[in-house]
Amino acid sequence: MWRPPERIRHQVRPGRWPTADEAAASRLFSPLRLGPLELRHRTWVPAMVPWRATEDGHVTDAVIDWYRRFAAGRPAALVVEATGIRDIPSGPLLRIGDDRFLPGLESLVRAVRRASGGETRLFIQLIDFLTIRRRPDPEKFFRRYLTITRRHRQALGMPDDAPEAAVRTRLLALSDTARREILDARERESLERGYRERVTDMHLPHIADLPQALPELFATAAVRARKAGFDGVELHYAHAYTMASFLSALNDRPDGYGGTRENRVRLPLEVYRAVRAATGDDFVVGCRFLAEECIPGGSTLADAVAFGAAFAAAGMDFLSLSRGGKFEDAAQPRVGEAAYPYTGPSGYECMPSFISDAQGPFGRNLEPAARVRAAVREAGHETPVVVTGGIHGFAQAEAILAAGRADIIGFARQALADPDWFRKVRAGRGAEVRLCTYSNYCEALDQKHKEVTCKLWDRVGLDAPGVKKTADGKRRLTAPAWDEKDTVRA
Ligand SMILES: Cc1cc2nc3c(=O)[nH]c(=O)nc-3n(C[C@H](O)[C@H](O)[C@H](O)COP(=O)(O)O)c2cc1C
Ligand code: SF4
Repeated sequence: MWRPPERIRHQVRPGRWPTADEAAASRLFSPLRLGPLELRHRTWVPAMVPWRATEDGHVTDAVIDWYRRFAAGRPAALVVEATGIRDIPSGPLLRIGDDRFLPGLESLVRAVRRASGGETRLFIQLIDFLTIRRRPDPEKFFRRYLTITRRHRQALGMPDDAPEAAVRTRLLALSDTARREILDARERESLERGYRERVTDMHLPHIADLPQALPELFATAAVRARKAGFDGVELHYAHAYTMASFLSALNDRPDGYGGTRENRVRLPLEVYRAVRAATGDDFVVGCRFLAEECIPGGSTLADAVAFGAAFAAAGMDFLSLSRGGKFEDAAQPRVGEAAYPYTGPSGYECMPSFISDAQGPFGRNLEPAARVRAAVREAGHETPVVVTGGIHGFAQAEAILAAGRADIIGFARQALADPDWFRKVRAGRGAEVRLCTYSNYCEALDQKHKEVTCKLWDRVGLDAPGVKKTADGKRRLTAPAWDEKDTVRA
């Protein structure tokens, strides 16, 4: 993963933990209205893909164990990982694009309800993404994948009717540098990073048709989520995926869905309205979007402020803010691997590690989230704003709420490091929290599509009875249980 060149090592700073009485009287542990329902308090576990679904997108026992473990810690809200809305092969990513996925999702909902004693509200993140291919072997690229055109023939000084095979052979005989010069920018990208579709590829009919296809796809997925028993859906409008690409300042589609801010937000609003119409007013519908894209030419905070106000005016029940996580500045993958959107500077902004710049990894999205919230309030909307990114201490969370910078606090990696954060802090036993060190060991596993675990607990009690492990037997799959009867650590 990319790291800021300053390479300053930051220590976690949880601050003072509250007593049980202080926690009970705190803002963090006070209720909050979220559209049609009430959250018991203002804690939130954002979506995290654990790579535990089957190859064809079904819920497994390991998926259920993963969410059951988070639910046992009783956060007020838990968002199930990015889940594909289409009925297409997507590897071991959870899917909701057909009714056959319902039984698994229903079991997941039941497990969370039971493990949290009904305290945790459960949402599912709905995602659409475009095609991305692995970086090809150059030989295969020139022999098979590159579409040969007149431009290539001309560059090689060959006649327009020169046979394709001859063109390929000539290209292969050239040096790397000479070949690079003959390719255009997209072809070079396909060779050096792997082919990647964009929402601006209007020559591809299925891309041109996205505004016609996506509202219904999201709406039927949301109806399925409701049937499965979820309390609501989070529309994934963040990071490197389709909807974020529509919002992006890089989107210059000429069909009314690109260019100006108003045009870029059009499809996200149409998707929202279709979802709302299909699910009703008594179902939570919100979205996750970027406070800043953090790439050259990308959307800025001014865009996010406008989008936030537009989403709130449309009636969304919450706005969850993330940052960065884009393909545009991702590291070049190795041959045979696909680009991963969290490997460049924008990826760092999304999941900052303890090796950082002077600003550090804790709360990098705070100021932008506060600005989005202020704009939403100025426009007369009370829509709750969720802020996430490096938050691990009660004092920090409470201060954010007290200053009106956000309404709900997201704890992603901190909840992975210790799913019992919420119970421990409420019980006045914050000193027992296993603090995330922001090592990004978990993120590296995510990048390799390996089962995500935390380095602070995945070797603990490996041989205890009933502990489920990774296939190689080296890591446990969920955090050890917290024994409340244990005495408080000194
Ligand atoms: C293993 C892993 C998987 C993630 N998967 C998702 C995801 O599916 N959807 C999403 O919006 N964010 C995802 N994220 C980003 C987190 O939700 C969160 O925004 C990020 O980790 C920063 O918050 P934190 O500092 O509290 O961890 C993932 C993060 C991690 C570490
Ligand atoms: S592996 Fe554990 S400690 Fe390291 S960043 Fe992930 S959750 Fe935090």
